Amino acid sequence: MNKDIKNIRKSINGISSEVLNGENYSRNDFARSILNYPAMMVPSVQEPIIEKLSHAINGEVSLLDPFMGASNTLVTGMKYGMNVFGQDINPLSILLSQVKTSFYEIGELIDAEERLISGINSDKSNIVEVSFINIDKWFTMSIQIELSKIYRAIRKEHSLKIRKFFWVVLAETIRLTSNDRTSTFKMHMRPVEEINARLVSAIKTFTIVSKKNIKNISDYISILTLNGNIKRGKYIKKAEVVWGDSLSGIKTRKTFNLLVTSPPYGDNQTTVTYGQFSYLPLQWIPLDDIDVTIDLEYLRTTQEIDSKSLGGQVKGNIKDIEERMFEKSQTLKKFITQFKDGEKKKAEKVTRFIYELDCSIEKMLPRMRSNSFLAWTIGNRNVNKQVVRNDLILSELFLSNDIELFTGLKRDILSKRMPGRNNFSNTMSKESILIYKKNN
Ligand SMILES: C[S@@+](CC[C@H](N)C(=O)[O-])C[C@H]1O[C@@H](n2cnc3c(N)ncnc32)[C@H](O)[C@@H]1O
Repeated sequence: MNKDIKNIRKSINGISSEVLNGENYSRNDFARSILNYPAMMVPSVQEPIIEKLSHAINGEVSLLDPFMGASNTLVTGMKYGMNVFGQDINPLSILLSQVKTSFYEIGELIDAEERLISGINSDKSNIVEVSFINIDKWFTMSIQIELSKIYRAIRKEHSLKIRKFFWVVLAETIRLTSNDRTSTFKMHMRPVEEINARLVSAIKTFTIVSKKNIKNISDYISILTLNGNIKRGKYIKKAEVVWGDSLSGIKTRKTFNLLVTSPPYGDNQTTVTYGQFSYLPLQWIPLDDIDVTIDLEYLRTTQEIDSKSLGGQVKGNIKDIEERMFEKSQTLKKFITQFKDGEKKKAEKVTRFIYELDCSIEKMLPRMRSNSFLAWTIGNRNVNKQVVRNDLILSELFLSNDIELFTGLKRDILSKRMPGRNNFSNTMSKESILIYKKNN
C-alpha cells in the first residue's frame, strides 16, 4: 500500500470522537429537518470520511448509496462536487431525495408558496380527495378536509419539480397531524382522549413546514453555490436517484469509485419500519408525481414496503441458504447454531436477511471500479436476547469476495427513535463505520 493511502487511513483513524458522535451537530440542519425520515445518517459524521476518502481517489469521484434513505450521503457528496447516484425501494425516500438533489430558485418556491396558501384559504370545498382503508382511524375529519385543500392546491401547480417540493412539505405535515404517534416508526394510534383534546391544524402546520423547508433548501443551495458547485442554475455534476430494489441490482450502467451507505440492520418489520413510517404520507401523494414506474402494489397494506425490503419475505429453502451463508460467515453460523426449536425459527430471519444483504453486495461489486472504497455504517442487534454481530458478519461477507477491511471506526448513537428497543443490543447504542477497499 502506498504512503499516501497509509496517510489517509491515519487521518481517518484520527477523526475525533466528538465529530464521530455528532456532538456538535444541529438537528435543524438542512439535510435532516426537511422530513424526519427514519434512521438518517448524520451528515457531519459522514462528511470528514467522504472528504478524506476522496483524496485517495484519482480523478472525479462517483459516489453510490444503494440504501439511500433520506439521501444525506448524497447531499454530503454534492457539497464536494461529486457525481452521486442513490437507490432505494421506498417511494418516499425517492421523493425526498429527488427534492434534496434538485436545484431550486428560492424566488420560485416563495411565489409558489404564496399561490398555494391563497388557493388553500379560498377553497371552501369539504370534499375529501383520497380514500383508503381505515382513513378515519388515522385522520380526524377536519384534518382530512384540510389536507384535501392542500392536496388540490398542490395538484394545480404546473411544474412537477415544484409539486415534488410541496409533496414533501405535505408528507411532513401528515406525520405531524395524523393520529399516528410520532414517537415510533411503527403505526400506533394515539389514545382517543388525546386525539379529541388535540388542537392541531394541517393548514397551519403546512405553512410552518413550508417556510422552514424553503429556508433549509435555500441555506443548502447557498453552500453549493459558494463551493462553486452550482453554475448557470444547475449542479455542475450528475445527481441521480432511482426507485429500485438493490437486491435485484443497481439500476444504472454507471460505475463508481466510492460507496457510502447505511443498510438496514435486519428485516424492516423487526428493526426500523421504514415502510410503515411512509404508508400514510404515500396515500396522499400521487405516485405518478414521484416516478411513473412505481407499482401501486407497494401501498396495498401498511406492511407491503417492509415485506418487500431486505429480509422481509420468506423466500428459498432455509437449508440451502444456511449452507451458503455458514460457509461465508463463521460468526453467523455460531450465532444461529446455538438455538433450537422456536428460537431457531426466529433466528432464521437473521440468516435470510444476511443472505439477501450478501446477494445485494454481489450485485453492487461489479459496479465498483478497481481501487474503490466502500464505507458502511452498521449496528448490531438482539435476537433471542443474543447479540447479532452485524459488524463482524459484514466483514466476513466482504472477505469472501476478497475485499479486506481498510479501517473501522466506532461511534455512539446519541439518540435514535428506535422502536422496540429490545430488538437492539446494548451495542446498538454504538455503530461501526467499516471502510473496505476493493483492489481489483
Ligand atoms: C438506514 S436507511 C438508510 C439511511 C440513509 N443512508 C440516510 O442517511 O438517511 C436504510 C434504507 O434501506 C432501504 N432498503 C431496504 N431494503 C432495500 C432494498 N431491497 N433495496 C433498496 N433499498 C432498501 C430502506 O427503505 C431505507 O430507506
